[in-house]
Amino acid sequence: MMGTDRHAFVVVANRLPVDRIDGAWEASPGGLVSAVAPVVREQAGAWVGWANTHDDSLEPFDFDGMSLVPVSLSHDEHQQYYEGFCNATLWPLHHDLIVAPQYHRSWWRAYREVNARFAQAAVEAAETGATVWVHDYHLQLVPAMIRAQRPDIRIGYFCHIPFPPVEQMAQLPWRDEILRGLLGADVIGLQREADAAKARQAMQKVLGMDPEELRGRVGSYPISIDVDEIRAAAESPAVQEMARCFRRDLGDPATLMIGVDRLDYSKGILHRLWSFEELIDDGRLDARGTCLAQIAVPSREGVRAYQDLRDEVEHTVGRINGRFSTLGRDVIHYSHHSYSTEEAVALYLAADVLLVTSLRDGMNLVAKEFATARRGRGGALVLSEFAGAAEELDQAIVVNPHDRAALKAAIHHATMLSEDEARRRMDAMADTVAAFDVRRWAQAFLHDLRDPASAAALSPSD
Ligand code: G6P
Repeated sequence: MMGTDRHAFVVVANRLPVDRIDGAWEASPGGLVSAVAPVVREQAGAWVGWANTHDDSLEPFDFDGMSLVPVSLSHDEHQQYYEGFCNATLWPLHHDLIVAPQYHRSWWRAYREVNARFAQAAVEAAETGATVWVHDYHLQLVPAMIRAQRPDIRIGYFCHIPFPPVEQMAQLPWRDEILRGLLGADVIGLQREADAAKARQAMQKVLGMDPEELRGRVGSYPISIDVDEIRAAAESPAVQEMARCFRRDLGDPATLMIGVDRLDYSKGILHRLWSFEELIDDGRLDARGTCLAQIAVPSREGVRAYQDLRDEVEHTVGRINGRFSTLGRDVIHYSHHSYSTEEAVALYLAADVLLVTSLRDGMNLVAKEFATARRGRGGALVLSEFAGAAEELDQAIVVNPHDRAALKAAIHHATMLSEDEARRRMDAMADTVAAFDVRRWAQAFLHDLRDPASAAALSPSD
């Protein structure tokens, strides 16, 4: 199925940057796509990934200046590799064991086989001396698999999610293979310096690697957003009109709080709902003047823990609305749908407070988008200290979402900020994001990949 075209730059990610909608390919939204697609286009590069279909007859095709190389997954592989090993083993292992990771040898075998298929596609797409950039936890064996066949290639790997502490990583029956897989890369990037330190420690303890050698290869590159895209949406009259409609349709509350997340247990949606309920119970939030709009984007619906979470969130929303809504006026508006960038920005503009209460989160780009859209407009951001973004957005109201009293106090504080203070904090956060947007993130990583000698010096955390 592989084309014969060879490229100087190849991205390898679980998903291709397109979705098939009504029989035609359309660009899929998302941070990785807006960050990496321009670089792929500039270098007439290739992108290797899964096309989100079980059709295994797809040939490589050109899309918007990129050469897309589809990797097929059978129905069983989708279950065992994607839903199983990626999202019921690795995802919880990398997110503080919020649910228990499951270890199944058949899932591991599927992960290895699928990784080998991605690696083969990358090898065939890469010209001599090419740069290959591998993304995320789905493909941790790919760097070493490419290296084994093609020592001429420069290989980068970036992990978009947190890295587990060595004591948790040690549970994984295939920890040695995974760490050796990563070490096929010349540069290994993580979101925060704390994640990079954990990765180095795991490599040192599990594989006995030399810490000095690791320091130059494993670093932090906090991912960011497409600031221009979010600013343009926030300035668009159509989006501003949409924001006014949203607020009106929500009953024009005195205070509009929002949550915007994939429906994932790592996001702490229940913790946020419990605190909201108690604040109304205590009389610190007024049910008649406050509304919480929670967007929960459907995610990984074949995985049991996600089905259970959906049941619990929907039960909790129902209970709170049953207790506090009046006819024609819900205290919580819950929507289980995906949304466009324009709709998200309209919601940011309509809101007074964004609640980001992740129990563990690699970065959280919603927080960065909110601050960017709201520059000059005030509003408040409640931000979990367990989201990578908290390291940069120190003007947020930073909180431990496990501490119910603290989370309630943070949400209450967010509703009490003076206009001046709210604007000052929001503008400071927006400026921080603008100073390191997603293009600079990609440039910083690729710079270090091409020139490893400068890696330690140029890593943005240093
Ligand atoms: C996280 C991961 C991404 C993933 C996204 C959506 O942000 O780091 O790699 O694409 O979640 O999850 P999904 O399973 O739908 O790809």
